[in-house]
Amino acid sequence: MLIKRPRPGDSARIAPSEITAEDVYFNRRKLLKAALALGAVGSVATSTASERATLRYTRNERYSTDEDLTSFEDVTTYNNFYEFGSGKGDPAARSHRFKPEPWSVTISGHANVTGTFALEDLLKPHALEERIYRLRCVEAWSMVIPWIGIPLGTVLRRFEPTSKAKYVAFKTVHRPEEMPGQRGRVLPWPYVEGLRIDEAMHPLTLLAVGLYGKPLLNQNGAPLRLVVPWKYGFKSIKSIVEIRFTERQPPTSWHLAAPHEYGFYANVNPNVDHPRWSQARERRIGGGLFDSRRPTLMFNGYEKEVASLYAGMDLRRFY
Ligand code: MTE
Repeated sequence: MLIKRPRPGDSARIAPSEITAEDVYFNRRKLLKAALALGAVGSVATSTASERATLRYTRNERYSTDEDLTSFEDVTTYNNFYEFGSGKGDPAARSHRFKPEPWSVTISGHANVTGTFALEDLLKPHALEERIYRLRCVEAWSMVIPWIGIPLGTVLRRFEPTSKAKYVAFKTVHRPEEMPGQRGRVLPWPYVEGLRIDEAMHPLTLLAVGLYGKPLLNQNGAPLRLVVPWKYGFKSIKSIVEIRFTERQPPTSWHLAAPHEYGFYANVNPNVDHPRWSQARERRIGGGLFDSRRPTLMFNGYEKEVASLYAGMDLRRFY
């Protein structure tokens, strides 16, 4: 992806006061209130590596494909995770110091239940499922990945978003000491993304904790990431520490970096080219010579499920 240096003083940059502190402040009173509302029982759980190593899940056949899966090797060594560098091999090679546990997520903004929650408490009430999705990067390559996670909407509803919650904003952790890419300025840190509330609540939108039957590796966004299969991969934000219900459309990292090249919506669309390359075709990673330029499908092949979200919208304008 093109890197355009954000200008100093760019008003769209995140104010330091908005950045989540590394040692996330834990508000017990809020947690208790939320725990009651969420039906969570008992004290704050802490997970160990071995707990994270075993994921119990069931395959959801509704979300599958007969396409060949991209190999585990490719899925975990050909990555975009600029917090670890901008080379495809950097996230696997340079993320060994990153600590995905313990982990907590702050839920804030327009919702009746807010607070900071241990990841285990966030996930506890939900059954994990496996879904096989295509992932189409804006750079015109793609993969087929068996994710493990929970529909995001199921999780968000527990926090009772109010009628003012028109959008959902997501933030990646900011830890320059563990994420060498954050010591440079290729993007404004922390990485932020957002969805309209109906996109966030759509049954296809997944909050993923694993892939190929295992917990997410650091390079894939451990311990918690988004997967929005009908949008370009950059919407699928990794290593999430904050989810905020907002009234206004939130800023998003790639749009901040290059507004004319990367939009807020970022729906996969073979008819709307990137300013510098065609989006009509894609290269399936590991797909071999004959598979190297397959046609890109509208909404990445999920048109039947999601087209109604954009009825009447000019998809060239809202790119
Ligand atoms: N999330 C964060 N925090 N930082 C990133 O650089 N890259 C995005 C997305 N999520 C990115 C991110 C892009 S461009 C893509 S294509 C996908 O992650 C890649 O996911 P994968 O490496 O697991 O295939």
